[in-house]
Amino acid sequence: MYEGNSVEELDKRRAALEIGFVFQSPDAQIVTDRVSSELAFGLENAGVPPEEIRRRVAEMAGFFGIESWYHKEIDALSGGQKQLLNLASVMVMNPKVLILDEPTSQLDPVSAGNFISMLEKLNRELGQTILLTEHRQEELFPLADRVGLMEAGELKAVLPPKEMAALLLEQNAPLAKALPTPAKIAWALGEKAGLPLTMKEGRSFLMSLSSGTSGEPEIPEPLADGEKALEAKNIFFRYDKDARDVLKDFSLTLQRGRCLALLGGNGAGKTTMLQVLAGILPPYRGKVKRQTKKIAYLSQNPRAVFLKETLEEDFTLARQDANDWRQELSASPFFQALVPLLERNAMDLSGGELQKAALFKVMLTQPEVILLDEPTKGLDPFAKEELGDILREWTLQGKSLLLVTHDVEFSARYADECAFLFDGGIVSKGTPRSFFATNQFYTTAACKMSRGILGDAVTAEEVIQLAVGADC
Ligand SMILES: Nc1ncnc2c1ncn2[C@@H]1O[C@H](COP(=O)(O)OP(=O)(O)OP(=O)(O)O)[C@@H](O)[C@H]1O
Ligand SMILES: [Mg+2]
Repeated sequence: MYEGNSVEELDKRRAALEIGFVFQSPDAQIVTDRVSSELAFGLENAGVPPEEIRRRVAEMAGFFGIESWYHKEIDALSGGQKQLLNLASVMVMNPKVLILDEPTSQLDPVSAGNFISMLEKLNRELGQTILLTEHRQEELFPLADRVGLMEAGELKAVLPPKEMAALLLEQNAPLAKALPTPAKIAWALGEKAGLPLTMKEGRSFLMSLSSGTSGEPEIPEPLADGEKALEAKNIFFRYDKDARDVLKDFSLTLQRGRCLALLGGNGAGKTTMLQVLAGILPPYRGKVKRQTKKIAYLSQNPRAVFLKETLEEDFTLARQDANDWRQELSASPFFQALVPLLERNAMDLSGGELQKAALFKVMLTQPEVILLDEPTKGLDPFAKEELGDILREWTLQGKSLLLVTHDVEFSARYADECAFLFDGGIVSKGTPRSFFATNQFYTTAACKMSRGILGDAVTAEEVIQLAVGADC
């Protein structure tokens, strides 16, 4: 029902003007070929006068930080820039109701935080109705008035956030893993009533437990150098002779049997860097030394991996012996979920299913070096854990992984080392513990929550251990 009418009966024009919908995959929504025309498209269709269009587009572009790429073609945008553009194109219509499907999945932590504060303002100050789905719950969950729990197409419960958190934790439901870190930590430490949800509540909770003294953070030794699997030396790359360098004197070594997570802002050049390492884009200066030819690259847009009508045909393309891949598929708890989907086209999969299918196809080529671009987007917390286990298994087998991601929690848990890309080069690199303990914004919720109170912990498990160890 929408304002007393059933949604089916709603006039199409009214629905288009009043209900703003943002899809999960940024590529599915874009209709024009330039950023400027995309932002104006909806308003032009609605017959809004040109002056007003200019004013509204300027305001939105300013808010979303789009000015520096306002004149670009859509094809020249990074994944996160496309997602921001979709959000801005819907917001510019000033809809009464906003429906968002995982709106922050490809945004860097800083842009995601800004976007979430904007949603909060729209809701609190302008009374806008917002309905959104999200796997990244850390900041959004505490802001909701009500949280719905969906399972197999059915809405199981709708509750205020604190009650929902308590319900999930009590049932030890798989989705409890997605709850904000403060709630999970407090629950594990025996708190039942009034679970903390925000960082502020979480810090006061920890403060009330401990004496508030934390020892000097211990910065662990960097990992010893191992055998090199791939090495990029002094790479320079730009998309056009007259454009600026995206990679500038970029150097990076990937060690055999390790997982290196690479973080960085939207548009920093992470996808570009993976494509240079994979040999898809040629640098104009510098060298990539590859110790093996068996390099696989999983694109940020997993649809790009599929060329055929069905998954089955695509998998057979990657590994001709169908018996062989079928065996691998059913033997793996993570990939097994694809068995009932084999007849489907990649277009007809959910975001999480698509990500899984793309990963399986890449794996079938038996690569030694795997370059992954945002592989956790669209995965629920349970699937993320399974993916993490698989990545670990692969590194134990001696495969080398380079993981580009905005998911700080995932990299803290599963990467051996983390690095930060800025201004075309790597500016910091270290084990997750040293990397996140020294970052202010690009850091995990557990680190923000415990900093200065409980030593330096980067995962929820570590905070719990420290709290129990401190006997509080
Ligand atoms: N095909 C292209 N032609 C021209 N410019 C491009 C092209 N692809 C990307 N760019 C530009 O190069 C820069 C780096 O883009 P890239 O996709 O590597 O960023 P990213 O770090 O992967 O960002 P995100 O986190 O949003 O995915 C951006 O400014 C982007 O606009
Ligand atoms: Mg990218």
